[in-house]
Amino acid sequence: MTTTLIDNIGLLVTNDPSNGDRSVLGIVRDAAMVIGADRVMWVGRRARAPEADSRVDLDRQTVVPGFVDSHSHLIFAADRAEEFVARMAGTPYTAGGISATLIATREASDDTLRLNASRLVAEMASSGTTTVEIKSGYGLTTDDEVRGLAVAHSLTPESTYLGAHVVPIEFQGRRADYVSLVAGSMLDACAPAARWIDVFCDRGAFDVDEARVILQAGIARGLLPRLHAHQLERTGAVQLGVQLDAASVDHCNHMNDADVDALAGSATVATVLPGADFSTRSGYADARRMIDAGVVVALATDCNPGSSYTTSMPFCIAVAVRDMHMTPAEALWSATAGGARALRRDDIGVLAVGKRADFAVIAAPSYVHLAYRPGVALVSATWKSAR
Ligand code: NIG
Ligand code: FE
Repeated sequence: MTTTLIDNIGLLVTNDPSNGDRSVLGIVRDAAMVIGADRVMWVGRRARAPEADSRVDLDRQTVVPGFVDSHSHLIFAADRAEEFVARMAGTPYTAGGISATLIATREASDDTLRLNASRLVAEMASSGTTTVEIKSGYGLTTDDEVRGLAVAHSLTPESTYLGAHVVPIEFQGRRADYVSLVAGSMLDACAPAARWIDVFCDRGAFDVDEARVILQAGIARGLLPRLHAHQLERTGAVQLGVQLDAASVDHCNHMNDADVDALAGSATVATVLPGADFSTRSGYADARRMIDAGVVVALATDCNPGSSYTTSMPFCIAVAVRDMHMTPAEALWSATAGGARALRRDDIGVLAVGKRADFAVIAAPSYVHLAYRPGVALVSATWKSAR
């Protein structure tokens, strides 16, 4: 195995409190890191760095764990720019727009879907993302969900079956039949290419009882649950997620005290999606309130052609700091270690011996600049599995 010394790091965020300055970010100044085949082998002050086969000088830039984007919908064709224009002129966001993407996605070839998703994953990597979760959900026939999941699964181990995105038009007036399909033969066909099962449990999509049936069927089939909860209204999906030990409930815009308390006493992460709140011009999820109550909060892009067409975790960090009142340190933690928790992964989101050598190099003296210099492409390199 060849080793590489990543040297002359001005400020290194490890997310390992035992490693650095004892804060949650575990900061080491004047740092270095030795990486091997795909893992971190050594982390510390550069003055004490061991020898390695080769050396990369980062010229005092900042290094942070690679961003973990735990919520995206990248399997689709065409965009909905016109819907965005209308929304900015005052039309409210609804789940109805999903049907427009459905038509285009069903018509698209496998190659078109693969090229589009790969382009978006590459865009994510260029802004520092090293792990992405990808959902199906714009096919909504068994064949279209299977081919969407095949693309997702080829791009990430974190692939999610979202047959329960909306009830497609051909099932109008027969929603119970669609729920049976999603929880039955469509699930059986999709499960081999998925790690997760998700439900859009909200106004215009699925209710809590339908979501429970679908998620329980997925769990019985060996998938792990997560769900879209309380984006458009307070449905009870947050409490359902806690009851089912979902890894994460995502959006969390409409929350009462009982929802926050339930999350705080659970292993379920609240994933907030600033890009969706920004691009639908809706009230921001109250990340401050959840963090203060002891809830573990993750940040993700929700990249999709309708409500949040951004691939940029730095953008989400900037908005989370500005509008969700997270500190820059909290936002960075939520975009890295928080995302790892939302995916129930302990090998990513932290730069410590034995963890994956996944990290982003920030051309700035501190991680604070991710929020302080919004919209500026500060990520100068992204390393995944030591490459
Ligand atoms: O997370 N909420 C459900 N799914 C996406 C939006 C999908 C769409 O509008 O196409 C979301 O925001
Ligand atoms: Fe979503």
